[in-house]
Amino acid sequence: MKSLSKFDFQNIKSVGIRVDFNVPIDESFKVTDDTRLLRAIDTIKFIKEKKCKILLISHFGRPNDNFEIRYSFQNLIKQFSKILNENINLISYENFLQKGLVKFQQFEEIISLLDNIRFFKGEKTNDLSFSKSITDHLDLYINEAFSASHRSHASVNQMSKNITSLPGFNFEKEIIAINEIKNSSKKKLAIIGGSKVSTKINTLLSLTKSCSNIFIGGAMANNFLKFKDVPVGDSLLEEGSEKMIEEIYKLAKKSSCEIHLPLDIVTDKVEKYSIYKLSTASNFKILDLSDNSINLLDNLILKSEIVLWNGPMGMIENENFAHGSSKLASLLANCSSQVVIGGGDTLLAINIAGINFDQFHFVSTAGGAFLEALEDKHLPGVEALNLS
Ligand code: ADP
Ligand code: 3PG
Ligand code: MG
Repeated sequence: MKSLSKFDFQNIKSVGIRVDFNVPIDESFKVTDDTRLLRAIDTIKFIKEKKCKILLISHFGRPNDNFEIRYSFQNLIKQFSKILNENINLISYENFLQKGLVKFQQFEEIISLLDNIRFFKGEKTNDLSFSKSITDHLDLYINEAFSASHRSHASVNQMSKNITSLPGFNFEKEIIAINEIKNSSKKKLAIIGGSKVSTKINTLLSLTKSCSNIFIGGAMANNFLKFKDVPVGDSLLEEGSEKMIEEIYKLAKKSSCEIHLPLDIVTDKVEKYSIYKLSTASNFKILDLSDNSINLLDNLILKSEIVLWNGPMGMIENENFAHGSSKLASLLANCSSQVVIGGGDTLLAINIAGINFDQFHFVSTAGGAFLEALEDKHLPGVEALNLS
């Protein structure tokens, strides 16, 4: 893979780095999780040491091709500077519209951040001339936003094609970790939870081909249990999921992949039940896994060399129903298998469990991109870098 560490920086003066500063915030714009910022530090510092001017580019939220104060980096720039321990200059929306990047080379500050790239027409349409209005002022383009690489947007795709481009250090690690899951012949287990089958169906179908075992948890499992005629009361269900589940079982059988479901669960009344004791007569909601399901997971983990985890095992936002995910996080932190984890809410589950990300082989910063990368399709951000 072409790598930043081997690149010759002779004649390189201005470098654009596409980062993903789409970080979670609270109602007073306080950054509540700085993982994505911290993961970009190595690349930013490396380029700074090469004495280049740096232009950071990122989206934030989903504004509609126009300036909206709630999506502006104006609200966050001070926190970003503090977290990254760098003085970062904000290039405002107005400033870019009026002057573009003409004066970029002369800026006093070494690091600048362009306001939310999704304010500008041309970003979401992957427009060539918009992309050039940025890359014409750069000598090198680095994509350090693996978590946005499933979007066919100008800063993710077209800009990398315009000039010499490279993956950032974290981007490289994300690709290597995901390729290990996809291509390794080691015995693999995928633990998939969360709320919807439809958002993960393609990932599940691909995983049946490469995994020996898949454990389905979270609200997603309700649909599978119902499919197997287990009463699920008023649990969260997804209409029309039967067809998708049928397809998953069919492909799993073909690939000798075994699908495992929870053996026991915790209801909304915080009562534990074996799935064989659930009754059609009572009203209940399945909100977490219970002890035998965790034991099953423990056994499956013990016999796997690689474990992938995406999606919480229960409704983690309520502490009564976060135990299953916390226990799973701790099993994975202490096992000898190679553990790769991805998904916004899955990372939250690990934080709730109080476990440090360093305890796992790799924790991805990506949500949708992580799932799409596990499928058999090419991501626009990865493709544009022409890595091989
Ligand atoms: P990720 O972001 O890690 O990919 P998802 O977005 O797919 O995960 O799913 C996370 C959501 O799933 C959380 O909001 C959690 O509350 C919900 N969830 C998990 N299990 C249940 C359940 N049994 N009932 C209701 N919601 C659940
Ligand atoms: C994410 O949070 O998954 C990435 O930043 C991509 O954001 P998007 O789903 O708004 O494209
Ligand atoms: Mg989520």
